[in-house]
Amino acid sequence: MVPGRGRGALRPVRGARRGAGAGARLHRRRPEPRRTRTRPSRLPRALGGGPGPHGRPVRTVDRPRPRPPRPRPRPRREPPLSSPIALDYSEQERWLRQSAARNAERDRRLAAEFAVAGYDRAADIGCGAGGMAAALKSARPGAAVLAVDSDAAVLDIARSYAAEHGADLDFRTADLDAGAEAIRDALGGPVDLVWAGHVVHHAVDQQAALDALAANLRPGGRMAVAEGGLGARILPWDIGFGRPGLHARLETAGSLRMEAENAERGAVPMPYGWTRALRLAGLRDIETRTEFIDRPAPLAGGDLTEALDSLAARVEWFGDFLDGEDRDVWQALLDPADSHWLGNRDDLHHWEIRTVYTGRRA
Ligand SMILES: C[S@@+](CC[C@H](N)C(=O)[O-])C[C@H]1O[C@@H](n2cnc3c(N)ncnc32)[C@H](O)[C@@H]1O
Repeated sequence: MVPGRGRGALRPVRGARRGAGAGARLHRRRPEPRRTRTRPSRLPRALGGGPGPHGRPVRTVDRPRPRPPRPRPRPRREPPLSSPIALDYSEQERWLRQSAARNAERDRRLAAEFAVAGYDRAADIGCGAGGMAAALKSARPGAAVLAVDSDAAVLDIARSYAAEHGADLDFRTADLDAGAEAIRDALGGPVDLVWAGHVVHHAVDQQAALDALAANLRPGGRMAVAEGGLGARILPWDIGFGRPGLHARLETAGSLRMEAENAERGAVPMPYGWTRALRLAGLRDIETRTEFIDRPAPLAGGDLTEALDSLAARVEWFGDFLDGEDRDVWQALLDPADSHWLGNRDDLHHWEIRTVYTGRRA
């Protein structure tokens, strides 16, 4: 399940999680230092107190005692930061294909809606496997649909995906950061519809990228941007293994990773939300479409596989930003041969919010 055999892959630390493993270690209580009390009191323990009779606080008397041994610091594992931090999507074929399959139903629905307004030329920017490009072609077979990506190797993935799905697409290489003119050259002219799925956040200057895409719309043309939302939540807060809040810390790791990636490429901050960004790009009639994916526990079959794949991908991508203990716990949870394997649990759910922002050029 863990796709990580490459950069940032988890390494098994078997001894650390067997027997008195990560979870057991965490819940073990340190012995209290010995103290001799004359009477119980209610003073805070820090003041040497405890409960007294009739609720009256009384002091306790401590005999001089040797200082308790300091807990040994946990061995520090510096995160082996991958360099560069930004993902090479040409190495993520499996994930790109899974993403296209996962979004297929939504893509069909949105493409059908866009087809009602009509488009003669549409572009799927940062297309990955090109799932939306295929949906746009299928919803309006007479239209020219461009599958666009900055990475030529990713376009090869999109080519094979399109061939498998019988989609006759036009493949173009273009970089969101190249500016409106360069994008126009790559597209061969303006389009009626731009779809940008989870790509704008990769731009060095997200607002400039949106401006450039908006500038390549025909008057009245529409832009749809899939960004934001809330990532999948799969685990209960406390799974009885490792520290509670494991999933929340995975999200924090994702946020730290994004911050580091932004620093790595000198990204220009976009300190506001997507509706404002689309408005600043000159679009009007801005709308937000929100979908709540609600699959209650227990997950089974394809839903379980999707949930585990999604966790495995995130653990691989964000692993450098987790502490060593959490990494070991995730390693066990995602290993089908391990007794803690998540696939054996009946309390996994899948909650996720996906958002798409749309706007129209005047
Ligand atoms: C997270 S994937 C999204 C793929 C697909 N749209 C989806 O939603 O599944 C990001 C895609 O954007 C491409 N990409 C990244 N930076 C880009 C840029 N500056 N210009 C164009 N494409 C870019 C990547 O190669 C990758 O295919």
